[in-house]
Amino acid sequence: MVGSLEEGGWATLLKSSIGNKIVADSADAEHSLALVGSLATVTPEGRPKVRSVVLRGFLVPKQGEGIVEGVKAGNNIDSMPIFSTHLNTQKISELQANSACEVSFWIEETLEQFRIGGHIHILRMPKASEEEIDVDEGFLKFPIEYIRMSRVGDKDPLDIEGFTGDKETILKKTYEEHSHYLKKWFSTQAPGSSLDEEKSEVEGLDNYCLMVLKADHVDYLNMCKSGHFRRIFTLEDGDWKIEKVEP
Ligand SMILES: Cc1cc2nc3c(=O)[nH]c(=O)nc-3n(C[C@H](O)[C@H](O)[C@H](O)COP(=O)(O)O)c2cc1C
Repeated sequence: MVGSLEEGGWATLLKSSIGNKIVADSADAEHSLALVGSLATVTPEGRPKVRSVVLRGFLVPKQGEGIVEGVKAGNNIDSMPIFSTHLNTQKISELQANSACEVSFWIEETLEQFRIGGHIHILRMPKASEEEIDVDEGFLKFPIEYIRMSRVGDKDPLDIEGFTGDKETILKKTYEEHSHYLKKWFSTQAPGSSLDEEKSEVEGLDNYCLMVLKADHVDYLNMCKSGHFRRIFTLEDGDWKIEKVEP
């Protein structure tokens, strides 16, 4: 286990744990599907704010150094976890003011906790009449591979598939993976606003965005019965360092 931790890094470990979770869950498909994490942001007042989010997959730079500053292309351990949300949610305004965040996953089936800290970049469709500066400008150059989350029913949940595309392709295809109910949510204008206010509906894709987590710190805890162990992965000068610490 320690060998594979050092070889593949935290993202390989996380993907394989998700695969194992799906295998374990397959007997009970009703209750399975998503890996839900708790995403913490910081409010402008400096207070922590946390909410549940579904891990949608990963983005992985495909070629060339510096596609994402500080992230090496084709380097599995530099995979970036992605989450989808509505552009008008509070978390987006918090992230626009301060992109620092941490997401925590507890995978009950494998007895593992991953706490992934870093900064979130927001990917959204360009608007037709756009004066405002695109929030992801300069962050993402192409090509980039999208690796989707394993799902119940996958032939081999440990071998997660995906596709390579540009920003708009990734946004459109991942949007289409959402349920009818979630698409309806994206077409409302202001989540969290009063139900008494009159609202107009819009094209859901216009409110859709992906939060891309560029990690720089991962705290991994394994609670296996044969002995708990913990590793700290830290990004230093473009390379991940791994430290064994007391659990
Ligand atoms: C199991 C579960 C999964 C959720 N997944 C997401 C998600 O992937 N994206 C999202 O924006 N909100 C998700 N939500 C709703 C959020 O937790 C939150 O209520 C909503 O996004 C508004 O958060 P905000 O006001 O802090 O932005 C989920 C809620 C639950 C209970």
